[in-house]
Amino acid sequence: MSRQANILLGIAGGIGAYKTPMLVRELAKTGAQIRTVMTRSAHEFVTPASLQAVSGFEVRSETFDRSAEAAMSHIELARWAHLILIAPATAHLIARLAHGLADDLLTTIVLASNAPVVVAPAMNMHMWSHPATERNCTKLTEMGYAMIGPDEGEQACGDEGPGRMVEPCDLADQVVALLQKSARVEGLLTGRKVLVTAGPTREAIDPVRYISNHSSGRQGFAMCRAARAAGAEVTLVSGPVSLTTPPGVKRIDVVSAQEMQGAVMACAPQMDMVIAVAAVSDFAPVKLAEHKIKKQQSAGNWRLELAANPDVLAEVAALDDAPFTLGFAAETRDVEDNARAKLEAKGIDMIAVNDVGNQTIGFNSVNNAMTLMWREAGSVASERLAFSSKDEIAARIIARASACLSACDD
Ligand code: CTP
Repeated sequence: MSRQANILLGIAGGIGAYKTPMLVRELAKTGAQIRTVMTRSAHEFVTPASLQAVSGFEVRSETFDRSAEAAMSHIELARWAHLILIAPATAHLIARLAHGLADDLLTTIVLASNAPVVVAPAMNMHMWSHPATERNCTKLTEMGYAMIGPDEGEQACGDEGPGRMVEPCDLADQVVALLQKSARVEGLLTGRKVLVTAGPTREAIDPVRYISNHSSGRQGFAMCRAARAAGAEVTLVSGPVSLTTPPGVKRIDVVSAQEMQGAVMACAPQMDMVIAVAAVSDFAPVKLAEHKIKKQQSAGNWRLELAANPDVLAEVAALDDAPFTLGFAAETRDVEDNARAKLEAKGIDMIAVNDVGNQTIGFNSVNNAMTLMWREAGSVASERLAFSSKDEIAARIIARASACLSACDD
């Protein structure tokens, strides 16, 4: 790491807490400074004396500890952290984080900090697979928190399954990789305005029916998080999805392609970069029926007349003084040839293409693999982005796109 990293380690009351002095030592080996904050129940599993000895800093626990606050207030601590690691993260702490509670020092610091948050869950396997925990973890991921683990294996309670905290040396390695990743995009888009489209559109047929697609919006939301991490002012134009708006992002909700076109074209001329991840419906019914269409109305087969929707991204690329345009393509065959053709046909600067014929990636999956293609010196250059989380892919795309944007400025 080029600068000295300040890592705030939050420790909750799970059995994995007894390994945290070792975790502090592993993190310290990378040259990082570590300060620790314990929840009250963490004291049942590890002592502040051990943590203070290995970290070299006083351990914090209480929000209203006047002498500790005088030395470094919780807000200063929140600003000090370049990264917050919560290990072990119990089911209860994950629930509190998912709901934005600030009922102790650790959760207050998390809310008050802009630093990336990494959560290492550790709990009984049934608590881990409970739908409430699953929902809470999904919320954390949507807010941009990274999850590491849990590992599978024998548990302290005797059960065998997922729920063990990742071992300290692996955890430290993964945290260092994350710090390097955020350093990769940090500052790349400072002072830039970026617009992202995400999700599906819905094209109404009658008051109860519509045409749409399987887009979850996750890749678009990950692009917003990566653009924010890179320092951009981000506007999100989103079709109907059930995802939480990433912190610091201005969101405009739309339903149809026409509405998306209106919202995007109103902002596009002020943008430096437009990233179109939305799966815009290519066609919409010519007529919107005023009342629900009855099956008796169309004896036998029913023909629905469709008209082409505007191509939002192509319109942005055709603007005078157009922003840098980045499109996404989902293809089921001839993946790279189709992407190259779209780059040309839409007149855009860059395209990220994924193979949705492969069931483990793309629509509705958490992971993604992509090929990035862009114009360079009169031809098309490309980079393969290996199978990874949508957040990791998004960071790599932002790194490449911002380099191309800077090259356009030169
Ligand atoms: N796009 C858009 N407006 C449309 C259609 C697509 O802005 N009406 C954008 C998407 O957000 C994406 C890119 O264009 O960034 C490619 O979308 P895709 O659906 O793959 O391409 P199409 O042009 O619709 O081509 P086809 O459906 O024939 O594959």
